[in-house]
Amino acid sequence: LTIVGYRHALVSPASTRFAVLASGSGTNLQALIDARIAGLAVVISDVSDSGALLRAREAGLPAEFVPHGDDRIRNTELVCEVAIRHGAGALVLAGFMRILGPAAIRAFPDRIVNIHPSLLPAFPGVDAVAQALAAGVKVSGVTVHFVDEQIDHGPIIAQRAVPVLPEDDVDSLHARIRKEEHDLYPRVVRALITGRLTVKERRVIWS
Ligand code: GRF
Repeated sequence: LTIVGYRHALVSPASTRFAVLASGSGTNLQALIDARIAGLAVVISDVSDSGALLRAREAGLPAEFVPHGDDRIRNTELVCEVAIRHGAGALVLAGFMRILGPAAIRAFPDRIVNIHPSLLPAFPGVDAVAQALAAGVKVSGVTVHFVDEQIDHGPIIAQRAVPVLPEDDVDSLHARIRKEEHDLYPRVVRALITGRLTVKERRVIWS
């Protein structure tokens, strides 16, 4: 079966179930777990011993390790297949360090969200926190956005500003940003899965 086949057969736009994709420590996943949002169907990680998978198992959630090879098309298919098998109608990226191919965006239209530790469009890509420090900005923050085919680029759903203090290093600034992330992401995910977010070109409207 191809993902397109899955889209027509199984992904329901009305599904309120979602998959969380995470590669790292999983503190944003933990915030989603702690917020007790109904519908967290599965946690998927490309790192077999990630904190995210441990947190999922501790919470009694399905936890799936999906190894990543060199073929992005195949990797994307595998991730989508696992999510769909668990009934997910949306993908929530929480520190997922892989790029999903266009097939995922087609399979989950306006149903993939990402959280990024800067005020986009400033500092996209890896090391956003270090980029902000190196640029000397006085304010950075967090952005939650829909995922499109470009990196850290899709329509912005929500942002929070975080001050950069003179004594900050990457760890201290990232910790302050994470605090906002943990409050913001559950609100956005709840809005997404209850159908309160509409995308009009680059604008996201909350209802
Ligand atoms: C977060 O800062 C998020 O913005 C970025 O990756 C980090 C993930 O952190 N995309 P954690 O694994 O949720 O602690």
